[in-house]
Amino acid sequence: MTRGEQLYEGKAKKVYRTDDPELLIVSYKDDATAFNGLKKGTIVGKGVINNQMSNQLMKRLEKAGVPTHFVEELSERDTLVRRVSIVPLEVIIRNIAAGSFSKRYGVEEGVVFSAPTIEFSYKNDELGDPLMNAYHAIAMNLATREEIETIKKYAFAVNDFLKAFWLEAGVTLVDFKLEFGRLSDGTIVLADEISPDTCRLWDSKTHEKLDKDRFRRDLGGVEDAYQEIMRRLKEHA
Ligand code: TMP
Repeated sequence: MTRGEQLYEGKAKKVYRTDDPELLIVSYKDDATAFNGLKKGTIVGKGVINNQMSNQLMKRLEKAGVPTHFVEELSERDTLVRRVSIVPLEVIIRNIAAGSFSKRYGVEEGVVFSAPTIEFSYKNDELGDPLMNAYHAIAMNLATREEIETIKKYAFAVNDFLKAFWLEAGVTLVDFKLEFGRLSDGTIVLADEISPDTCRLWDSKTHEKLDKDRFRRDLGGVEDAYQEIMRRLKEHA
């Protein structure tokens, strides 16, 4: 399958048409942004790592019963995926307080929750991805009640799977963001990516950050952290 016309360029990926209207190619870039594009940079090798990590994890999630857009890895940076229309919600699961949760609720980063949390943000860059509850999403026709229920079920299943997977690799899954899409028949599948850009991953022993927070917070060692988390994935795979 070869790349056709470029359909879209996002902050971290490009999307191309293929000969098949139901299939697209996503191509991962090394570009990194934070704070809704305010901070820009490059993380050398990130595109390759995010592509390979996301594909590995999605393959495993499929086996665990979560349908995804993944079809086939075409090269280091390119992957064939099923075409979806994205549900404009960022679905965030948290196991441990960090980031915007810590800030909003005054909870120290690192506090372990007694149960995982879920939240939705309206995927809208102009508005800065505002927090939104399920009633808002349904009222605005962003998703139906049934779709929200399916998305919640899959998101918690992804958490159960990923938490256990990363634990075995010596990594604590703090939180992550998912996006879902609809196939042409309306079926909800996991889309976008699962990578150090979209997850907080801490070394289980040292609590060292092995994710994009190193870039967001200018902690240094950004490339090394991406390499290290990929090494853990490969070692465990
Ligand atoms: P937050 O604490 O900043 O709300 O982030 C929660 C999780 O979502 C964290 O793992 C990083 C991820 N995330 C994205 O993937 N994209 C984004 O635009 C933001 C703000 C967070």
